[in-house]
Amino acid sequence: AVEAKIAPSMLSSDFANLASEAERMVSFGADWLHMDIMIIDTVDFYLWHFVPNLTIGAPVIASLRKHTKAYLDCHLMVTNPLDYVDQLGKAGASGFTFHVEVSKDNWQEVVKEIKLKGMRPGVALKPGTPIEDVYPLLEGENPVEMVLVMTVEPGFGGQKFIPDMMNKVRTLREKYPKLDIEVDGGLGPSTIDEAAAAGANCIVAGSSVFGDPEPARVISLLRTSVNK
Ligand code: DX5
Ligand code: ZN
Repeated sequence: AVEAKIAPSMLSSDFANLASEAERMVSFGADWLHMDIMIIDTVDFYLWHFVPNLTIGAPVIASLRKHTKAYLDCHLMVTNPLDYVDQLGKAGASGFTFHVEVSKDNWQEVVKEIKLKGMRPGVALKPGTPIEDVYPLLEGENPVEMVLVMTVEPGFGGQKFIPDMMNKVRTLREKYPKLDIEVDGGLGPSTIDEAAAAGANCIVAGSSVFGDPEPARVISLLRTSVNK
């Protein structure tokens, strides 16, 4: 089986105490820290959001990097991912996952840049996007190394897991037995078994981890389910 990576979503953390929240999650057994990056982009001189929310950018990643050695799994919900590759690389991001919906024309360039800046490339897809759309990104000279299947509409933590997305995970796992497949949105003790059985091995969990009085117990439960 593919190795489990449990990635608490720092979107549910106390942003005013990000360094200590990160340290706490690592001490609780987190493999990765999931960083949700949502910014306003400029598209043809218009300002545009990929999602209706704003969170953090490269300056915060750079600050956090000074306090932790943890793998920072950055999920970019922006319209122009290429604009942020250089600054996130310099800030110390580890993984750079961009959305396929906004990268149909330039994904090859985006992937090349990500690798050049020393990060690991991943591609994400929204619930309405068919899994076939990421296949080209898994072939050829410069494939992405992870696929993030969104299991809620991106934008906010605390939403309900969409079970239909497991068909995408299953299809992808059959085709790519060794690929890192990440699920993001609504994962927790009540949904993990379904996601793990479908073949997901990288598990993002925000509200279920941070909202529990014993986050370490939730992290270990998620891991046990993936390793089953
Ligand atoms: C949503 C983000 C998620 C979010 C998940 O756009 O991509 O990472 O933090 O939060 P939960 O686990 O609470 O659904
Ligand atoms: Zn995310």
